[in-house]
Amino acid sequence: MIDKFKRNINYVRLSVTDKCNFRCNYCMDENAEFLPNDELLNLRQLETLIKVLKEMKIKHIRITGGEPTLRPDIVEIAKMLKKYFGNFSMTTNGSLLSFLLKDLKENGLTNINISLDSLNRETFRKITKRDDLKNVLEGLEKAVSLGMNVKINTVVQKINFNEIFDLIEFASKIEVPIRFIELMPVGNSYKEENFVSEDNLKSKIKEKYTLIPITKKLGFGPSRYFLIKELNSYIGFISAMTHNFCYSCNKIRISANGLIYPCLAFDYHISLKDVIHDEEKLKERIKFAINKKPEKHYFNEIEKTIPMHKMGG
Ligand code: GTP
Ligand code: 5AD
Ligand code: SF4
Repeated sequence: MIDKFKRNINYVRLSVTDKCNFRCNYCMDENAEFLPNDELLNLRQLETLIKVLKEMKIKHIRITGGEPTLRPDIVEIAKMLKKYFGNFSMTTNGSLLSFLLKDLKENGLTNINISLDSLNRETFRKITKRDDLKNVLEGLEKAVSLGMNVKINTVVQKINFNEIFDLIEFASKIEVPIRFIELMPVGNSYKEENFVSEDNLKSKIKEKYTLIPITKKLGFGPSRYFLIKELNSYIGFISAMTHNFCYSCNKIRISANGLIYPCLAFDYHISLKDVIHDEEKLKERIKFAINKKPEKHYFNEIEKTIPMHKMGG
C-alpha cells in the first residue's frame, strides 16, 4: 500500500510477546512490566491477521518481541507464516535459539537477525544484565551452520565502542554481515551520555579498514551497507538519529496485544483487536493506520516514547 508520502508500505514487524529474558540497558530495567498473557493476540487472531496482511500485498513479515522465542507457541506461529507467506524473518537475542532452530527453519524461518553487543562476557552481562553470552554464540553459530541467512545487530554505546574491531572481525570470520545501530531515545532506560554517532564510529573503523558503499540491500529494512575491502565482508549502519531514513520507510509495527504503530517515534497507535473477527474492518483499520504514518520520526521533539519491546523492536 502507498502512503501519503508516496512510500510503499510492504514490510510488517509483528511482535508476538513484549516479554524478554534480557534487560538491555537501552531497552528496559529490572522493574519492567509486561502484558498479562490473555491480552496477547492468540493463535486464532494471529492467523486472521497474517492472512489479511498477505491479502493486502504485504511482502515480508519479521517476527519480533520482546524476545519472540519466549512465546511457547512460536513454532505454531511459524507454521502459519509458512502457510501464508512461505518464509519469514525474526529478530532475536539468540539465547534460546539453538533449541528452536530446527523447527523454525522447517517452518519457513529463513532470515535471523541476532543481537550481539559484546564478545566480552563481563561487558555482555553489564549491557544485558544476564550472563548468557555463551548461549547466544551457540545459537548464532548453529544458525550459520544450518545455512540460514544470519546478520548481527550491535547497538553501539560508549561501553562497547572499544570492541568494534573485535566484533567486525568475529562477524567476518563467520561470514555474517554486522550492522551497527545508533542508540535511540526510546523507553525509559535510554541515556544520552551513552550515545555514539555513526560518523564517530565510521572514522574509527576507517583508521583500519576501507569501506566501499554498496547499493545491494541485504534485507528489507533501513540499513545502508558497505563492503569492508580488506576483509571482503559486509557492514551496515542503522542510524535513525544522525542519518534519518524516514523518506524510505516501508514498514508498520504491530504489537503483541494487537496495536498498530505507524512509526516508532510518533504518538499514535490504534487497536486491531476489536475488529479482528471481521476481515474487512481489519483491512480498513490497517489502511487507516498506514495513512497516519508521519513524514518523519519525532525523536527530537517528543519527551518519551513507548519502549521498543512494547512496540515490536
Ligand atoms: P532486515 O533489513 O530485513 O535485516 O531487517 P531490519 O533491519 O528491518 O530488522 P531488525 O529487527 O534487525 O532491525 C534492527 C534495528 O533497527 C531495530 O531493532 C531498530 O533498532 C532499528 N530499526 C529498524 N527499523 C527502524 C525504523 O523504521 N526506525 C527506526 N528508528 N529504527 C529502526
Ligand atoms: N536504541 C537502539 N536500538 C534499540 N533496540 C532496542 N532498544 C533500542 C534503543 N534504545 C533494538 C536493538 C536490539 C533490538 C532487539 O532492538 O537493535 O538488538
Ligand atoms: Fe530484550 Fe531485545 Fe529489549 Fe534486549 S533489546 S531487553 S534482548 S527486547
